Amino acid sequence: MREVTPKKIREMKGKEKITMVTAYDYPSALLADKAGIDIVFVGDSLGMVVYGDNNTLNVTMEQMVFHTRAVARAVKRALVLADMPFSSYEVSVEEGVKNAVRLIQAGADAVKIEGGADHEKLVRKLVRMGIPVMGHTGLTPQRYLRLGGYRITGETEEEIEEILRDAKALERAGAFAVVLEFVLADVAKLVTEEVSIPTIGIGAGPYVDGQVLVWHDLLGIYESSPPFAKRYAELGGIILEALSQYNREVKAGEFPSSEHYWEYQDKEDFERKAKNALRRLDL
Ligand code: KIV
Repeated sequence: MREVTPKKIREMKGKEKITMVTAYDYPSALLADKAGIDIVFVGDSLGMVVYGDNNTLNVTMEQMVFHTRAVARAVKRALVLADMPFSSYEVSVEEGVKNAVRLIQAGADAVKIEGGADHEKLVRKLVRMGIPVMGHTGLTPQRYLRLGGYRITGETEEEIEEILRDAKALERAGAFAVVLEFVLADVAKLVTEEVSIPTIGIGAGPYVDGQVLVWHDLLGIYESSPPFAKRYAELGGIILEALSQYNREVKAGEFPSSEHYWEYQDKEDFERKAKNALRRLDL
């Protein structure tokens, strides 16, 4: 069992801020774990940042299992959390259970679902079975068609009520934490005060119990990122420069240079061995 457990995450509320970052492959997960991040999260955002789609609706269970397996192999300390993709849990509780089990068997310690009140029964069932669940409310990207795009939430009384209802339902059903995405900071603060489980914000301000960012946004891989994401590095530019230099050097015959290859010192020895090899092959 890994050091960071859902129980430990719950106990961090009010004592220590929780850190969470997405990772979709082995090397990224190794680094996130080494950096001391509490939760390494295989998000369905991979549909956009890894596979290049413009939403998360096409992500499949197969993709989630595949990426969860790679991440789980790398992480020794942090909690490994895997996202349930669109249509993997909405149709029935049975379907949701079956798919959550697949992610746990791929190496996840817990699963995340979008929504709260609508899935109280599923969350309760998973928790009873021993599968820890994190919820997700505010902007729920799997419902972006209904929401009318990616926009801030909590502006109307109805939205405040819906976010609170989701968080309370998740708490009641036994979820160990809830993500608040793109929620006005005052609303996120209210929810954080109203529930006993940790709130993890993304674009939800500072009055929450923890923060989550998407790998590619945090590291500045793409030219643009969501307005709420802080870019801690500009790796996109660094990678582009390295690839361009490699391209230039190969074309100019500068790479590989002598320190990157090996050749016979005794050319006569090579000539003899090559001649014999060619003769044996009738060439
Ligand atoms: O899939 C994802 O990356 C997420 C985060 C935005 C929380 O759900």
